[in-house]
Amino acid sequence: MLSYRHGFHAGNHADVLKHFVLIELLEYLGQKETAYTYVDTHSGAGLYSLDTGYAMKNAEFETGIAPLWERDDIPAALQPYLDLVKALNPSGKMRYYPGSPYCADQVMRAQDRLRLFELHPSEIKILSENFRKLEAHKAEQGERSTVRGKRIMINAGDGFDGLKALLPPPSRRGLVLIDPPYEVKDDYRRVKVCLEDALERFPTGMYAVWYPVLGRLESQQLPDRLKRLPAKDWLHVTLSISGPTPDGFGLHSSGMFILNPPWTLEARLREVMPYLVRVLGKDAGAKFVLEAGVPEPLKGRSQREGTDLRSGVRREGVGQPQRTNAQPPAGSTASPSPRGERSSRVAREAGGRPAGSGAAATGVKRSGTAPDRSSARPGRAPSTVKKRSF
Ligand SMILES: C[S@@+](CC[C@H](N)C(=O)[O-])C[C@H]1O[C@@H](n2cnc3c(N)ncnc32)[C@H](O)[C@@H]1O
Repeated sequence: MLSYRHGFHAGNHADVLKHFVLIELLEYLGQKETAYTYVDTHSGAGLYSLDTGYAMKNAEFETGIAPLWERDDIPAALQPYLDLVKALNPSGKMRYYPGSPYCADQVMRAQDRLRLFELHPSEIKILSENFRKLEAHKAEQGERSTVRGKRIMINAGDGFDGLKALLPPPSRRGLVLIDPPYEVKDDYRRVKVCLEDALERFPTGMYAVWYPVLGRLESQQLPDRLKRLPAKDWLHVTLSISGPTPDGFGLHSSGMFILNPPWTLEARLREVMPYLVRVLGKDAGAKFVLEAGVPEPLKGRSQREGTDLRSGVRREGVGQPQRTNAQPPAGSTASPSPRGERSSRVAREAGGRPAGSGAAATGVKRSGTAPDRSSARPGRAPSTVKKRSF
């Protein structure tokens, strides 16, 4: 099913979280001179117009980039993301929003490699056209064209499958972003299967998965499944801009799950997430949850198979920015989850927004995922709406 068009959702709160984290990861990789490869398994169109076409329909950017646009108190860690979006809008008016391929292209260096996959026949055309124009613009400014060279390769195909041939990257340094539409529940399964394969081919790679936090079982199970993958460690962050709506409609919460994260990321998230809750939060249900850990064993598997997968609390924090380090004995648990599910063996740190207050989030909750909504990323492309490319 290929009805999803990211243009409807461009610049919403989920994009803010995803693209902020993406830029952080790429900037970290760029600290070493050695080239790295970035693979975007689900690229979308690359760039979106906010004042025409799909984005205007539900104006989802009002939940994300719009409230940040005129702020003068942006945390330093969020500034590179804001700078990138603003550079795309030199007039100062918020007209365009960058997709993940554009964010990557802007952050990555001449020696790094972008590998972009997109399956939708219309989106891939727009993506290719957008990069053609970007390259033409760069050429006008005296930069060498790279689209037909080695730096950027755009593949019209299935990103889950296509990833296999690219791992490990030549320099053994790389980041993979997996950002499917999740319109079909098989996407959840494919994310996990794809990562299992990828970690075998490239165990030291960095992997970032975006997912919608929904009431549906597949969404609730995904993070726990990813926690068991044999990476060195993981970081998981969710952002909810509100509690669930009475009709259960709309996406108000999403997560980024990072395998083999850079050690710097957690501190950056601690700096930015309370701010995003405060500025994007709509009601007392607004919150973030940040957790980190090492792979949990499958029930009974580690003993039976003698694997070296470890489990256990790595850190436990309450409130923000205060944090305590706790090292309970292996096998001990943190607090029970609100749904009475199996207790998490990793620490969770949550910050909420006090009811009826515009003040900084100081509320502390232990929580897991946010409750129900019915659809992940609603939005079919009406045939009359024309998508614009740049
Ligand atoms: C959420 S959008 C991507 C947004 C983009 N990563 C960003 O942050 O700007 C998901 C995209 O994946 C495409 N898609 C769906 N299934 C795919 C598959 N198996 N392989 C590659 N692309 C796929 C959809 O057409 C859609 O454009």
